[in-house]
Amino acid sequence: MSEQRESVHGLWSSRWVFILAATGSAVGLGNIWKFPYIAGENGGGAFVLIYLLCIAVIGVPIMMAEILMGRRGRSTPINTLRHLCGEAKAHPAWQIIGWSGMLAGFLILSFYSVIAGWALSYILDSISGTFYDATAEQVGKNFSDLLASPGTLIFWHTAFMIMTMVVVARGVKNGLEKAVRILMPALLILLLVMVGYAMSMGEFMRGVEFLFKPDFGRITANGVLIAMGHAFFTLSLGMGAIMIYGAYLPNNVSIAKTSIIIALADTFVALLAGLAIFPIVFSNGLEPGAGPGLIFQTLPIAFGQMPGGIVFGTLFFILLTFAAWTSSISIIEPVITWLVENKNMSRTRACTIAGGLTWLAGLGTVLSFNVTADVKLFDKTFFDLVDYLASNIMLPLGGLLMSIFVVWVLPKVITAEELNIGQGAGFKLWFFLLKFVAPIAVIIIFLNVIGII
Ligand code: PFF
Repeated sequence: MSEQRESVHGLWSSRWVFILAATGSAVGLGNIWKFPYIAGENGGGAFVLIYLLCIAVIGVPIMMAEILMGRRGRSTPINTLRHLCGEAKAHPAWQIIGWSGMLAGFLILSFYSVIAGWALSYILDSISGTFYDATAEQVGKNFSDLLASPGTLIFWHTAFMIMTMVVVARGVKNGLEKAVRILMPALLILLLVMVGYAMSMGEFMRGVEFLFKPDFGRITANGVLIAMGHAFFTLSLGMGAIMIYGAYLPNNVSIAKTSIIIALADTFVALLAGLAIFPIVFSNGLEPGAGPGLIFQTLPIAFGQMPGGIVFGTLFFILLTFAAWTSSISIIEPVITWLVENKNMSRTRACTIAGGLTWLAGLGTVLSFNVTADVKLFDKTFFDLVDYLASNIMLPLGGLLMSIFVVWVLPKVITAEELNIGQGAGFKLWFFLLKFVAPIAVIIIFLNVIGII
C-alpha cells in the first residue's frame, strides 16, 4: 500500500529547514502579543497550566496527524483530503476540513495583518526615540493615539499585507528558508535580553508567580476554551497550514521528533515573552488584563529606561514583525495553493486576489478599534468576534475532525507507514492521545462552554 506521492510545489531542502519554517509559522504574534494578553485577561497561572496541558496532549498529537496527512497527500489541504479519502475509500465530505481551514485562515490573516501593522508602526516610533524616557502614561497615550486613527492603521495593515503577498507570490520556499535561519535565533536572543532586563526589576518574582502559580478560582469555562483555542492558534493547527507545510516534507524525516521540537520551541518563546512582560506590568502599576494592547503598552516603557533602549526597541519590533511575517505566509498558503491547483492561477494572481479580499476583511478589525468600537455582538467587537470564532471554534473543530479522520478513517497501515516509528509504545501513546484524549477534551470543553455540562 505504499503510495507516497510527489508535491508539485517542491520539497523543503532538509528536515532542518522544515523545522525552521514550521517554527516560523508557529512562533508569531500568538506567542509574543496574544499569549501574554490572554493569560493576563484570564488570571495567569491556572490558564497557563491548562494551555501547556493542551499543547502536550492535544496539540502535539494533532500536529503529528496534520503533518502526516499533508505528507501523504502532497497538495493543498482540500486536494490532500480528496486524495486520502480515495486511498481510504471514504466519503469525500471529509474535504470540509480543507474548506473550513481556508475560511479560518482568511479570517485569521485579516486581523493578524492589522496587529502586525502595529508592530511595523512601533519600529518607526522606536527609531525616532518616542519611547525614550517615556512614562507609562505617555506610552499608553501613544498606543491609544495609534488605535484612534483608522488612516494610520490602514496604512500599516496595507504595508504588512503587501509584504506577506510578495513573499507568498514568490513561493514559500524561496526566501522564507533564508529568512527564518537568521531571524528566529535573533528573536530568541532578544527575548532573553528582555527577560534579563525584567529580572533586574523589583517585581520579577511577582511576574513569575502570576504566570506559574495556578489559582483555579480565576479560571472560567470560557477561559479553558480560550486556552485550548490558543494551543491550536499558537501551533498553527487545525486549518491546514501545517498540513501544507507537511506536504513539502521529504519522506525520510521523523514526523514525531520534528513535531515535539516545534512545540517545545513555540512554548519556550511564549513563556519567555510572558516572563519579559509581566514584571514590567507589575513594576509600573499596570493592569495584566489590559487586553490586546498589553505588549505595546508595556515593553516600550522598558525600552525607554534601559541602556541602548532605542537600539533594542527598534530591533525588537523589527523581529516581531518578522515573526508575524513568517506566520502570515503560512496562514494564507493553503488558499494560494488551492487557487493554483484548482483554478489554474499563477501564484501572483492568486496572491493578488486572496490578499485583496483578506485586506478588505481586515478593515473591519481596523474600525473595531475606533469608529465601531462600541458596536458589539455577544459583547464582542468585530475583531474579538472574528478572533473568537476562528481561533477558539474553527481551529479546535478542524483539529477534532482531523483526529477523527486519522484515527477512524485512514487505514492504520498508512498512518504507521507515514509516521515510521514502528508500532511500539510511542505509536500506541500517540494513537491513544489522538483517539481518546484530544477529541474528548475538545468536545468536553465545547459542551462546557455552551453550558451543556
Ligand atoms: N501560530 C501563529 C502565531 O502564533 O502567531 C499564528 C497562526 C499561523 C495561526 C498559522 C494559524 C496558522 F495556520
